[in-house]
Amino acid sequence: MPQPPQPDNAPVTLELIAIPKSIKANPLTPREIDLIDQTNDRIEAFMLGDSAVIETFVPCDFQWLAQCFEWIDQQRLAAGTRFCELGSGFGVAAMLAALRGKTSVGIEIESALVDQSNRLAKDLGIAARFYCGTFVPSPMAGSLASSHEVDHIATGGDDVYDATGIAFNEFDLFFAFPWPGEHEFYETLVDTCAAPGALLLTYSELAGMKLFRKP
Ligand SMILES: C[S@@+](CC[C@H](N)C(=O)[O-])C[C@H]1O[C@@H](n2cnc3c(N)ncnc32)[C@H](O)[C@@H]1O
Repeated sequence: MPQPPQPDNAPVTLELIAIPKSIKANPLTPREIDLIDQTNDRIEAFMLGDSAVIETFVPCDFQWLAQCFEWIDQQRLAAGTRFCELGSGFGVAAMLAALRGKTSVGIEIESALVDQSNRLAKDLGIAARFYCGTFVPSPMAGSLASSHEVDHIATGGDDVYDATGIAFNEFDLFFAFPWPGEHEFYETLVDTCAAPGALLLTYSELAGMKLFRKP
């Protein structure tokens, strides 16, 4: 498995690609709507249930996410079909990508959330795969953690890329929902470790969806 390079504190070189706001009017497919409805019900039950609260888990705007994926496909922006959700929570991004025919992987540190996403994918017959562990490539963990202040990203432990069978630099599109102030960690990660041409889609409540490409 190829090892990612070490960050050298160089500025992030990712190019920003503007996503038109008009895509928010685009309709979703029945399967996308069903996935989002079922996930919202299960998230509500999970939050109200007995499980310990996972403070780092907050779901994103799934409808807008589906519309972004469709736009990225329409524009043929991705170099290939391998998708990875970095910190997958209930795994909706990975499942939406799988519905679009991608080879789709979600990586999540909380086992209770991995269980939820595996159950949802199985119940809905969606071919996304979920792995419990860290998305931060092991050789990068120390240097990335020391160069960024991140309170909501686990920066220790072994990564799971061997288990997925896909190295970080073999993915064509990543999605992440960073906490405020933690975007730069994901941008540096993709800038440093992904292949040229790889895309990173991020969501935040303030900035909305942002799409970057590694030159
Ligand atoms: C804001 S939530 C987003 C969940 C999901 N992507 C979504 O959009 O609904 C961030 C998730 O990242 C997970 N996480 C944090 N650090 C991680 C790491 N190093 N590796 C894998 N998952 C991580 C958290 O447990 C949490 O579920």
